[in-house]
Amino acid sequence: MLRAMQPAVKTPPVAPRSGRHFLQIPGPTNVPDRILRAMDRPTIDHRGPEFARLTAEIFAGIGQVFGTPGPVIIFPSSGTGAWEAAIVNTLKPGDRVLMFETGHFAMLWKKLAERFGLAVDFVAGDWRHGVDPEVVESRLAEDRRSSPGASADGAIKAVMVVHNETSTGVTSRIPLIRRAIDRAQHGALLMVDVISSLASIDYRHAEWGVDVSVGCSQKGLMLPPGLGLNAISDKALAAAKQGGMPRSYWDWEDMRRNNASGFFPYTPATNLLY
Ligand SMILES: Cc1ncc(COP(=O)(O)O)c(C=O)c1O
Repeated sequence: MLRAMQPAVKTPPVAPRSGRHFLQIPGPTNVPDRILRAMDRPTIDHRGPEFARLTAEIFAGIGQVFGTPGPVIIFPSSGTGAWEAAIVNTLKPGDRVLMFETGHFAMLWKKLAERFGLAVDFVAGDWRHGVDPEVVESRLAEDRRSSPGASADGAIKAVMVVHNETSTGVTSRIPLIRRAIDRAQHGALLMVDVISSLASIDYRHAEWGVDVSVGCSQKGLMLPPGLGLNAISDKALAAAKQGGMPRSYWDWEDMRRNNASGFFPYTPATNLLY
């Protein structure tokens, strides 16, 4: 009551900016006019034939960005959502995973993994070096030796690395990590955060044997924020069919079933898809 009687707080007027707003942060990146113009259209019915035609083109082309002939899931989300999707589709609480302290985003992905009950073997780092493939090999070889009760693959279910640490530019060599996993003859999934490397640094999901690549729209793709991406290998799809955690919004199967006919299980980010 008293509050209502008080005069409204006056905020100082915002000075008009001259020129064009130019972002000078690691991401989101500046969105080119061509993309802004493409989005500047009415939002169409996401259950109609025009939308299905749009997505047919997108699904046919998006694999090229990741370097994969396999499926790519497009969530209306930020990159964090795509991190979460990678985990809940393939892993379950209590699963061990191997992660590396390469920088800020590796720390955040680890925190997220722990919130889902994953047991994270976290290899400490100084934020100045990428993942050491020799450490990957020795940790996985040790895991196989010490888990005779587990499957031949050992207890570690996934190796999770950030390809490019956005805040520092520290980049890990994904093909060498793949080879290290193979030398240890270990069956762990390889999951890679490509959020700031996708469309910026050479990246080859299929050729490098990555199981889940986690990307999003607002960095190398130079789109606005709002699309979270998962490129998925056959092995990761099989893991998702056999297990994973309870999931609904992030469910790959639900998405794939709907995407097959050109649609989404829920409202997509239509204008970002333009
Ligand atoms: C490497 C990396 N991973 C994950 C994220 C989190 O993505 P988002 O902020 O879109 O949720 C970012 C964001 O900058 C990032 O740079």
